[in-house]
Amino acid sequence: MTKVFNISSENLNMELIRQAADIINNKGTVAMPTETVYGLGADGLNEEAVKKIYIAKGRPSDNPLILHISNMNMLEKLVEEIPETAKLLAKTFWPGPLTMIFKKSSIVPRIITAGLETVAIRMPSNKIARCLIEEANTPIAAPSANISGKPSPTKAKHVIEDLDGRIDAIITSDDSTIGLESTVIDLTEPIPNILRPGAITFEAIKEVIGQVQIDQAILHQTTRIKAKSPGMKYKHYAPKAPMKIIKGDRVKVVKAINELTQEYQKQGKKVGVLATEETKKEYKADKVITMGQRSKPDTIMAKLFDSLRAFDEEDIQIILSEGFSNQGKELAISNRLNKAAGFDIIEVE
Ligand code: TXA
Ligand code: MG
Repeated sequence: MTKVFNISSENLNMELIRQAADIINNKGTVAMPTETVYGLGADGLNEEAVKKIYIAKGRPSDNPLILHISNMNMLEKLVEEIPETAKLLAKTFWPGPLTMIFKKSSIVPRIITAGLETVAIRMPSNKIARCLIEEANTPIAAPSANISGKPSPTKAKHVIEDLDGRIDAIITSDDSTIGLESTVIDLTEPIPNILRPGAITFEAIKEVIGQVQIDQAILHQTTRIKAKSPGMKYKHYAPKAPMKIIKGDRVKVVKAINELTQEYQKQGKKVGVLATEETKKEYKADKVITMGQRSKPDTIMAKLFDSLRAFDEEDIQIILSEGFSNQGKELAISNRLNKAAGFDIIEVE
């Protein structure tokens, strides 16, 4: 049986946090809210505990995990060295949605890093997550709390849908405020390299440390570029129905999506359109879901995964989605959409 602890972020129930921390300290698994997505936590220094995460999620064992910390003393013990760039980034963006890759120290178990010599670390800003780490007094390993391959969970109910009965406890609380997973940056390379785009953008990082690049595997889907972050190579975030992205000039995109909708409907298919507030009224599909306001990317990040899951409930057979640019926060949005669509992208001229 999975225990459910309902904890309000306004008024932290320390007794429930302590019970959850006890489960972590006894090698159990606890799903917890974070500002990015819900995470599935276990004691990050205990192999047996971490193994349970991989099993519950059905996660390939060559995909390493992020260790979540609540203070800088924890960081020092987990890494070989803290580069100047990391100090600057931590000062600016921690606690928050940034994961940094360091050379690992000997106390980090192999199961965390999937055999790599580096380790991914994040200090979340969510109060419940921070308190749980503090109370358990150990770094908490936590991937997103979904079944591998499904959209990441941004609501407690998504975690329950995927993991109820498979883990020891779930802390249910508010929806994730950011809604996309953290930005991952590798600081062990000569030029810091963004391996996963998120709410902390390339542009914002560049302002702090000057030199930074975006990994080629994010911008181009190709099998020739070896994925540096094992997570990059897996199909992710996929709704049940196949999905296509239609990119380009706004008026032409709307026209193309409506034409495709008609074609699929003629074949007897139920068509879903993933739209924005600005265009939602222009579509004639079986189901139109609005993922937020194009002019406010934060609203789209917050609703994207929930929108993808919503199509599953509607028995939609094909999803047509508007596309986004590679600038600022739109890069993280287009990265998740591209993966959800398996890079099936149509560019309209
Ligand atoms: O926002 C987040 O980061 C959420 C919340 C729960 O904190 N966690 C999350 O974890 O998204 P997960 O496991 O779903 O994604 C971790 C990503 C994967 O793409 C993994 O391959 C990469 O980080 N990663 C972990 N350790 C790495 C390492 N040593 N080198 C390169 N990539 C690494
Ligand atoms: Mg994940």
